[in-house]
Order: sequence, then structure tokens, then C-alpha cells
Amino acid sequence: MRIAMIGTGYVGLVSGTCFSEFGTDVVCVDKDENKIEGLKKGVIPIFEPGLDTLVKNNSEAGRLTFSTDLAAAAKDADAIFIAVGTPPGENDGQADLSYVYQAAKEIAEVIDGYKVIITKSTVPVGTGRAVERIIRETRPDADFDVVSNPEFLREGAAINDFMRPDRVVIGAETKRAQDIMAELYRPLYLIETPILFTKLETSELIKYAGNAFLATKISFINQMADLCEKVGADVHQVAKGIGLDGRIGRKFLHAGPGYGGSCFPKDTQALAYTAREAGAPVSLVEDVISYNSARKRQMAEKVIVQCGGSVAGKKIAVLGLTFKPNTDDMRDSPSLDIIPLLQEKGAQISAYDPEGMAEAEELLTDVSYGQNAYEIMSDADALVIITEWNEFRRLDLDRVKGLLKSPVMVDLRNIYNPDEMKEAGFDYLCVGRPL
Ligand code: UGA
Repeated sequence: MRIAMIGTGYVGLVSGTCFSEFGTDVVCVDKDENKIEGLKKGVIPIFEPGLDTLVKNNSEAGRLTFSTDLAAAAKDADAIFIAVGTPPGENDGQADLSYVYQAAKEIAEVIDGYKVIITKSTVPVGTGRAVERIIRETRPDADFDVVSNPEFLREGAAINDFMRPDRVVIGAETKRAQDIMAELYRPLYLIETPILFTKLETSELIKYAGNAFLATKISFINQMADLCEKVGADVHQVAKGIGLDGRIGRKFLHAGPGYGGSCFPKDTQALAYTAREAGAPVSLVEDVISYNSARKRQMAEKVIVQCGGSVAGKKIAVLGLTFKPNTDDMRDSPSLDIIPLLQEKGAQISAYDPEGMAEAEELLTDVSYGQNAYEIMSDADALVIITEWNEFRRLDLDRVKGLLKSPVMVDLRNIYNPDEMKEAGFDYLCVGRPL
């Protein structure tokens, strides 16, 4: 069995590498020559714990190779995964599928013999059929099936999510395609992972519905946090109290500054668009989208209130810039809204993030960066935690207090305990917990 993985972005590189770890021969293809040259030398273009070792081991074992030659890779493969980018389009949240369609055309031009062509990128309902049409139009003689196999990887935990997933979803409509997919995922049968075979459209929708549900769950608890602040309840305990009901579940109930990243914001918008176009609008999801973007403004307001109603001329130290810990990804990170809003009101920002500063430098202006958490705090009027990196969970609070001009802290991830912070002498504010 041989796989061609087209696109070595986040999804393609992690999936390709993990399939090779399963023992399958994989060639990862990308148009970006620098990236491919780097990967051949073991240079990993993204930060993902454990990925470098897997790439190195499987490359050395000869199961994982990298190439810019899509034609050769597709020709030799039994299964061809399309894992290229689907950025938000210019139109109303609609995903831009031009890279997917271009890949489909290039694949169609070279394939001979039966192939399974799998969309791994997150693609709107109907894309699989469109890929089928494109290949059929380009090569009426081709023998192939199109399959949808969405990924459910979380950045920062992607290897584990691939190797030990809650489930695998496969939209495959012929026995032949189902058998090849089952073979590719054979190691997961051994650990009794549920594998769900569906129609193409169902599989595509499962991916969006899953992400929209999770985004809704986060927004729900964020709204409960707002309510907790008004009525003196504790959102941690509310989350625990409802989460212990097995029907609700405890995960994804951490109140915070709103969800970000490359998936939830883009996927909720794309789902809302698809639903409007289909004449079945998803008003709940539309509400989640607008609440989540308003929430970031609300978080900047929170900082301003905690600074006595104005941040003009004040120095604000920010810990954490990436959209979540264990990634260098800044896409749609709450920090990209909160920091400019504070700057607009006259704040000077100093910031530190363990992995995100290089990317942040491109996206934010007039921010001074430090080499560690403490370096940015000198003479700051307030400390704001935006991302819950582990190294921020056990700050030396005496040292922090000594460095700050005034001991004001806004903890947007609830990583400290309000009572302990009060005792330590901080003027502390968090999200949805009584002080
Ligand atoms: C998400 C999904 O969790 C994956 O299952 C999915 O495969 C992936 O999108 C995708 O579509 O590719 P990811 O974006 O890496 O994964 O990150 P998450 O860990 O889900 O976090 C998303 C955002 O929600 C972050 O900003 C995080 O801080 C926030 N969040 C998460 C909360 O505010 N509270 C929570 O309780 C959980």
C-alpha cells in the first residue's frame, strides 16, 4: 500500500507522517520547494510536539519521503490524499476551494489504474462530489473513487489524536474504496477505534458539525461566565457541576477569552454559509460566531476596567500570544484583537510567548518582546494572561509583584485561584469567578 499526501501543511504533514508510522509507504508532496528541501533534511516547518522525531525515524526507515513532483507521487500511489489549504474565501465565510480543485485536476491528468482519492482538508459539503466531477471531466476513462476522511487533530496534541482517535469518519460509497481505507487504518482496528463509514456528504458535514458544536460549547460556558460575574457564582464549579452529567461531558467547558485558531472561526463561518445557501440557516451557530468575536472586545474592556478605567500611557505586560498553548500558531488568536484594542486606547504592550513571538512580530505592531515571562513585567501597570502555557501556571508571585509597578493581574484563562491571589496581595481579576 502506498500513499501520496498532497499538501504538507499542518494536516498533511501530521497525517502523512502518522500513516508512515503505521507502516505504510508515504510520499508527502508540496509545491513549496524550500519546505520540501527542509523536510528532506528533517527541518519541520511547524511546531508540534513529537513530530520531529516521527519524521526523522520514518524518513530513516525509508517509509516517509518528500517531493515536489505531484505527478510521479500520484501515479505510484494506491491512495491519494488531498490535504491542501482551504483558506476563508472573500465571500461571506465561504471556504476557498481553489487549491483542492487544482490538486484534483493535476491528479486526474496523471492517474492510471484504480485510485482512491481522499479529501483530508476540511471541505464544505458537496466538495467530494465536485472533485468527482472534475476528475471525471478531465479524464472520462479514469478508474477511481472519491472518499471524504476528515481529520480531528488538535494542534499540540496531533500525534496522539491521530494514533489514538475517538473515532475515524470515512465517507466512502464503494466496497473497493472502503476496503482500501480500512486497510490504511488497520492499526486502529486493533485498538478498537470506532470507524464510521458514511456517504460523502455525511462525512463532510460531521467535520463541520463537530467543530461547530465544540465552538458552541465554549461560547455557552463563556456566557455562563459572564452571568457568574453578575450573580456571584463560580464558572469553574458550574462547568464541573454540569459536566459531570455524562450527556454534557466535562471537556471543552473552560471559560476564556473566546475560541481562536485555524479551525473553529473558519469552520463555523463556512458551516453558516453552507446552511444559508442550502436554505436551512443554523441560527445557533450564527449567534456563536458573533458572540465570540464580541467577546474579544469584552476582554479588552475587562483589562481597561481593571486598570482603573483607562490604559492611556500605561504599560501592559502580556503573557501568551498563540491561540492556545503548545503551538506557534497565531491564526485568529484572541491576542490579535485584544492587544490592538488596548493599543488604540493608548496602552504600551510588552509581551512574551514561548513559541509564538516570531509569528506575532509579523502580525502585531509596536509590541516589545522579552526573552522570558519576567523580563516583560518591569514597571508594568498590569499583567494580562491571554494563553495558558504551562510555564505561566507557576510564576514566582513575589518576583512578579516586585517587578510590576502595581500588582494588577488579569487572568483570562483562570489559571490562578482568586483566594490565593488575594492572599498574595494581587489586585486580581479572572473570568467568571467570584473574588
Ligand atoms: C480543533 C478541534 O478541537 C479538533 O478536533 C479539530 O480537528 C481541529 O479543530 C480542526 O478542525 O482541525 P484546534 O483548533 O487545534 O482543534 O484547538 P482546540 O484545542 O480545539 O482549541 C480551539 C480554541 O478553543 C482555542 O482557542 C482554545 O483556547 C479554545 N478553548 C478550547 C476554550 O476557550 N475553552 C475550552 O474549553 C476549550
